[in-house]
Amino acid sequence: MERPYILPRIASPDKPLKIAVLISGSGSGLKALLNYQKTPRSHITKLIISDNDDAKGLKYGYEKNINTKSIPLPDVSDKKKQRILHEGLIHIELIKSKIELIVLSGYMRILTPSFVTKWKGRIVNIHPSLLPDFPGANAHRDAINAGVKLSGCTVHLVDSGVDTGMILEQREVEILPEETIQTLQNKIKKIEHELYPRVLDSLSEGLYHSKS
Ligand code: GRF
Repeated sequence: MERPYILPRIASPDKPLKIAVLISGSGSGLKALLNYQKTPRSHITKLIISDNDDAKGLKYGYEKNINTKSIPLPDVSDKKKQRILHEGLIHIELIKSKIELIVLSGYMRILTPSFVTKWKGRIVNIHPSLLPDFPGANAHRDAINAGVKLSGCTVHLVDSGVDTGMILEQREVEILPEETIQTLQNKIKKIEHELYPRVLDSLSEGLYHSKS
């Protein structure tokens, strides 16, 4: 049986929730969150982790003097062991920084059920489609190929499936006849950047606690 979601404590700007943001690439979502947090909120980014040394988004953490780490996959040939060791390294950093909520903001790895179980209810993912439609790594391509007229973004809690956890909020965008993967991605990122910092407000202020 899946463990229930255990949501983070209810926080306030005086005692904000300590967030770790996990990224793999350009980090435009991270940049939007850090901008939003310039005003004191009930959440604050205390740790940034990338699984990739070249992730452009790392620079936003360095610029703001936030504890920022690149933790690439360890050099181990057994893939299962490699995943477990990698997540073990991440877990150590999360504990060291007393992290209370993990945000997957363009993090391109799937977390193991064992990691998710430890943090269940305290991992949020941003996915660029209207889940449950088009889960996985090619959401824009899949939405365009399916010929649907609407796509959007979903902010959800992570469970041990792929993009299957409890949906917190969604926003729609129209898919135009001339839409390309790139134009759709740009449009969706724009609404993601508005939506997800606000969902973190709601989560850290306890608005979802009665729903989980
Ligand atoms: C976003 O579209 C998010 O939905 C998906 O990955 C993308 C990350 O973009 N999970 P960026 O790295 O924040 O620019």
